[in-house]
Amino acid sequence: MQKREVSGAHPTKLPRARILGTGRYAPSHVVTNDELSRTLDTNDAWIRERTGIERRHVAPPGELTSGMAIAASRHALEAAECSAAELDLVIVGTFTPDSPLPACAVYVQHALGARCAAFDIAAACSGFLVGLSVAEQYIRTGAARRILVVGAEMLSRVTDWTDRSTAVLFGDAAGAAVIGPSTDDRGILATRMYTDGGIAGMLEIPAGGVREPLTPKAIEQHRDKMQMDGRTVFRHAVKGLTGAALEAIADAGLTAADIDWMVPHQANQRILDQVSERLGIPKERVVLNLAEYGNTSSASVPVALDEAIRDGRIRSGQHVLFCTFGAGLTWGATVLRM
Ligand code: ACO
Repeated sequence: MQKREVSGAHPTKLPRARILGTGRYAPSHVVTNDELSRTLDTNDAWIRERTGIERRHVAPPGELTSGMAIAASRHALEAAECSAAELDLVIVGTFTPDSPLPACAVYVQHALGARCAAFDIAAACSGFLVGLSVAEQYIRTGAARRILVVGAEMLSRVTDWTDRSTAVLFGDAAGAAVIGPSTDDRGILATRMYTDGGIAGMLEIPAGGVREPLTPKAIEQHRDKMQMDGRTVFRHAVKGLTGAALEAIADAGLTAADIDWMVPHQANQRILDQVSERLGIPKERVVLNLAEYGNTSSASVPVALDEAIRDGRIRSGQHVLFCTFGAGLTWGATVLRM
């Protein structure tokens, strides 16, 4: 009898793409909820209860998104036993690059000493997962053998520190993974990606692009910072994460009971509680680092993944579910066998 390929997306027998090594970086400076409550009308109890966040890492002036990405990438390359010269592609998911032009990825490529192509992915909090799915296509077709995928975000620079409804949520960090072809049954099994641009205004930085150029007035009104309808994003996040995760799990030929670890985008504890309950994945199998970092956008999945691999929770052969959502809105899920 002919053996059927597990991945719904690739019916032919192509090598799977697998994660060969991961790394992470966060600035050493930490800001606690109590510290925020000195300048904002908020308090530690509200932030913990409504979000699960206890502190966040904030980069000092002078530190760059590319610098965080480079530090995380070096750890990932080391873990993957891969030299920068072996890289065929560098992909950075970020919406807080060092400058509007060129891409953050070019600085990462140069600093690492890689000679390959490099580009950014603009998919907000879904940036790492979208980058991973792009890398998967290159690996499966044989167009590349080693790809560095990074999620790096310096959200402290685009946070309105006078708005208590967003200032308490975000932090700075970077996570990275080296992707290569699998020689066995491990690797990415299925991915589902979605976008609904019809609700883009729910979470945006209104000024600083060609539609609304940066002016002194725009800066004064904080229109160069993130603005969000949190309650509506919350509702869409629960629905989107649950739906995409169920589809990706089914595409992989698995059920929720087969998932050893869920590594979600870390935005709000209450969102993740609702999603894990709807999926039937017990809380003990959800990798959480929200309390320590807050929401680090595209960095949150690779940072949580790296922590869980390095502390021995996630092991080779286990089934892992990534799920993510963010501005766009974009959302999606990936299932892999580590
Ligand atoms: N401290 C104290 N009170 C606050 C704070 C705060 N930090 N922030 C808001 N409040 C108040 C509000 O003013 C409101 O007061 P009111 O009732 O007097 O009007 C009350 O708390 C309730 O406000 P809600 O907005 O309804 O609070 P909610 O329970 O929805 O929590 C939150 C707000 C945490 C933002 C939540 O909606 C959330 O997490 N949403 C999802 C956000 C998210 O995941 N975004 C992803 C972005 S990822 C990316 O792409 C960058």
